[in-house]
Amino acid sequence: MDSNYWDEKYSTEEFIYTKIENRFVVELCGPIQVTGGKRAIELAGGEGRNSVWLAKQGWHIENVDFSQRALDKYLAFAKEEGVADLCSANCADATLFEPLVSPVELAVIGYLQIPEAQLETATRRLASFVVPGGHLMGVWHSRDNLAGGFGGPRDPDVLPNVETITKALDGTGLTIEVLENREGQIHTKEGLKPSTTLVLLAKRGA
Ligand SMILES: C[S@@+](CC[C@H](N)C(=O)[O-])C[C@H]1O[C@@H](n2cnc3c(N)ncnc32)[C@H](O)[C@@H]1O
Repeated sequence: MDSNYWDEKYSTEEFIYTKIENRFVVELCGPIQVTGGKRAIELAGGEGRNSVWLAKQGWHIENVDFSQRALDKYLAFAKEEGVADLCSANCADATLFEPLVSPVELAVIGYLQIPEAQLETATRRLASFVVPGGHLMGVWHSRDNLAGGFGGPRDPDVLPNVETITKALDGTGLTIEVLENREGQIHTKEGLKPSTTLVLLAKRGA
């Protein structure tokens, strides 16, 4: 799915992914303590629900997404929430982006469900901008969700699992601290249904 698809999807006043921060971003990024800089990149941050939350935690956040429509909504949201001075936008492809600010103490990648080879390139690129002592956090609809889970894409190539993310991080210098499926529930027309989410927290040694 290209940027036109996403621009079209986002061309409504409504926030498709809500303005509520992702609970795994809160769980895994919330406790991170840094001394000195608090610089962060969110890759594929869309309308910015996580970026704005991170800004409220004091992070200088750059949202990199190839949908300009999503980034316009994010910047308006950041202004609404009084954190515009901490939020920047970078309209670029995840596999090729040049950050406006680097290196960073925190890199976040949320629900970037793209083909495995592209996700590997994007993840490795993102990891390369993380400082010693810095973290990379990720969250995806898991490939394991295909076995009885609801929500998310159904094409296994855009659904990572523990093996594909381990391979993507191999040789980046990052050590995996958390990489596991989380079982949860999502709202469907038929009520609450099970759903499997893959979460990652990795750290570059100091
Ligand atoms: C499912 S949305 C998730 C948005 C956000 N992370 C969230 O959780 O609210 C996926 C996002 O990935 C972006 N995206 C998809 N492929 C991309 C690519 N190759 N480069 C940059 N952004 C991409 C889309 O524009 C979209 O905003």
